[in-house]
Amino acid sequence: MSRYKRTSMKKPVYLVDTTLREGEQTPGVSFTIEQKLDIARKLDELGVDMIEAGHPAVAPDVEKAVRLIVKEGLQAEIIGHSRATKYDIEKAAECEVDRIAIFYGVSDLHLRYKHKVSREEALQIIAEHVEFARSHGVKVRFTAEDASRTELDYLIQVVKTAHEAGADRISLADTVGILTPFRARDLFSKVKQAVPTVELDIHAHNDLGMAVANCLAAFEGGATGIHVTVNGLGERCGIASLQEVAVSLKVLYNIDTVDLKRIVEISKLVERYSGIVLPPHAPVVGDNAFTHKAGVHVAGVLSNPETYEPYPPELVGRTRDWVIDKYTGRKAVKARLERLGVYLTDEELDLVVMKIKERSEVRHWRDEDLLELVEEVTGRRVVLRPPEKIEALVWIKCESTIYTTSVARRVSAIPGVKEVMEITGEYDIVARVSARDQIQLNNIVETIRELRGVKETFTQIVLKKLETRTS
Ligand code: COA
Ligand code: ZN
Repeated sequence: MSRYKRTSMKKPVYLVDTTLREGEQTPGVSFTIEQKLDIARKLDELGVDMIEAGHPAVAPDVEKAVRLIVKEGLQAEIIGHSRATKYDIEKAAECEVDRIAIFYGVSDLHLRYKHKVSREEALQIIAEHVEFARSHGVKVRFTAEDASRTELDYLIQVVKTAHEAGADRISLADTVGILTPFRARDLFSKVKQAVPTVELDIHAHNDLGMAVANCLAAFEGGATGIHVTVNGLGERCGIASLQEVAVSLKVLYNIDTVDLKRIVEISKLVERYSGIVLPPHAPVVGDNAFTHKAGVHVAGVLSNPETYEPYPPELVGRTRDWVIDKYTGRKAVKARLERLGVYLTDEELDLVVMKIKERSEVRHWRDEDLLELVEEVTGRRVVLRPPEKIEALVWIKCESTIYTTSVARRVSAIPGVKEVMEITGEYDIVARVSARDQIQLNNIVETIRELRGVKETFTQIVLKKLETRTS
């Protein structure tokens, strides 16, 4: 199929997304074909350069998904993964991918215990299979698996062999994530120096938490392709995440790769499809990424956000916020209250802050509770703006195959959901929802109904509410 390919433009660095191949190797993850197509389209809209769509020889549905993704006519180059076997290569070629990526473990450990061949024999196998793939008229990438544990001189021989056989790109894989940034830069610059005409990719696993740093170091050493997955999915501890690599390239090197404003959206989509939910402190997309807490930090941010932010949240289409608990300070509380239209004298503010610090059991002062505290301290009636809201209870039944807590966690992340409880009985979860009006309530309920794992919902609108005081 002829179509414009994003890789036809010379760029300082290309992103190779492998959410659909490496990401599906995450324990517990299996995307449907429809989900794969959706992810592929969204990745293409985001602007990734290459999409590793799957390893067609693995299973019939993987092959079908690769075929269908190819038919989409995306601007990204579509890659089929393959072992160094004629069967796998033919399977990938039949899917009409733009590029076949052939991998082969090249460390002595892999040669001895997996492939049971000598170094010389491995070079022959690599050359033969790269040539075989090229004979199908596709581009070829060769992945030197376990490159980071391969003796350098032999690794250079491997790279030369695969390149001479027709692979324009060679991926050096840090298969068990043992590189450090210094070693990654050194490795890539030495290989690039030895084989200057080859384009190098880094495939960095995150077993020691250094995947993103190693990708950036490899880029500094001469890599022009960085393998990523949305949310860092992958075998064991995963690989470098798309969002972290793309934002780092922009913030630290001023290199544009993908549409950063849409990166949260695709992260949430992949959370939903994979069932793997990120922690709140996840970089870039986590709920807390731009939420400050300590009084000193909030005071700094209110004066100039750069004091405690590496980059403005707007870069990724987000906004900053701060929370109130015993770590708070006067400036944080004052600004929070002024945002609600409440102005206090210095004495009143001191009292409110003192009371907050005394109540260390409150983990998060919500605006409503803060206003109640202000009323208590000042004896004045303060009104929440906007005063009128609709409250509702949404009762949720989950699919029996899905972990209820993962659904509850996703429900709790929806704006407007105030409280989520896992319960016994006919329904599994009940959520307390607050909305401006019926339309917004309807949108919130629809969002809940669309969540993966939600089977049925039942919504009750609250008519009257009696406040009770516990002694
Ligand atoms: N090139 C060629 N052969 C390779 C290889 C490579 N890069 N890596 C491993 N192999 C061989 C092994 O030597 C072993 O061969 P053997 O059966 O002759 O001993 C075989 O592949 C792997 O063992 P096993 O999984 O038991 O073989 P299988 O024939 O039942 O299944 C797959 C092979 C590929 C279909 C199956 O393992 C699978 O679906 N894997 C998922 C994809 C995957 O493993 N990807 C790794 C990406 S890094
Ligand atoms: Zn991998």
